[in-house]
Amino acid sequence: MNTRTPLIAGNWKMYKTNAEAVETAGQLVELVADTSDVDIMIAPVFTAIDPVSKVVAGSRVGLGAQNLYWEKEGAYTGEISAGMLVAAGCQYVIIGHSERRQYFGETDETVNKKIGAAIAADLIPVFCIGETEAERESGNTFSVLDKQVKDGLKEKVVEDLGSLVIAYEPVWAIGTGKTATSDQAQEAHQYIRSLIDGLYGATLADSVRILYGGSVKPANVAELMAMPDIDGALVGGASLEAESFSQIVKF
Ligand code: PGA
Repeated sequence: MNTRTPLIAGNWKMYKTNAEAVETAGQLVELVADTSDVDIMIAPVFTAIDPVSKVVAGSRVGLGAQNLYWEKEGAYTGEISAGMLVAAGCQYVIIGHSERRQYFGETDETVNKKIGAAIAADLIPVFCIGETEAERESGNTFSVLDKQVKDGLKEKVVEDLGSLVIAYEPVWAIGTGKTATSDQAQEAHQYIRSLIDGLYGATLADSVRILYGGSVKPANVAELMAMPDIDGALVGGASLEAESFSQIVKF
């Protein structure tokens, strides 16, 4: 038995107006009020962070953002810093989601800077990695994960990675209804944990939480969570409704 507290995280992507986000967050707060021994996080769009922070304050539900920029402040039109997210009530930030890598030019280098900025501001980074379908089919899953982990965590960000969360999200399973089997996910998670062991030692490897993401639903979460190296879930579609997300939280 490990001592890692499971984390169930909801990535709301570019869904929900402020009014909708506040409503769903309020429902979720009630539905999960009786939970314990599980950390819960939702990540609304930037504009909804402040109103949602007031709804989740003092509840079981933590708050995250979906991205940040690594500079503290400055002439960077359209960007938001780690310190600003903290000031708005965030404890977490998702970094390097495959949609950002695919559509917005996110690279391992920018991910590395963002993880450093998040940790420096005491935000918990949820660092996303995962292979595409073509990479899996050509037998390159492990080499892709290897590069994403090493480049994403290289250099100065390693000083204190204590709060780090990694999310393994095979790109072919995101929003497609195709979930990795629990054995496929476990194999990848075990590999990622062994990479952390090799890079930063057993203490961090034992404590780092590795979430699975990609079409997690109430019906498949228990099987995934039963695997020894799966410490939680990063949930997209099924996090948008409080009822289904609360069922996942209560896996
Ligand atoms: P999904 O998204 O649960 O809708 O597959 C997961 C994610 O993108 O984090």
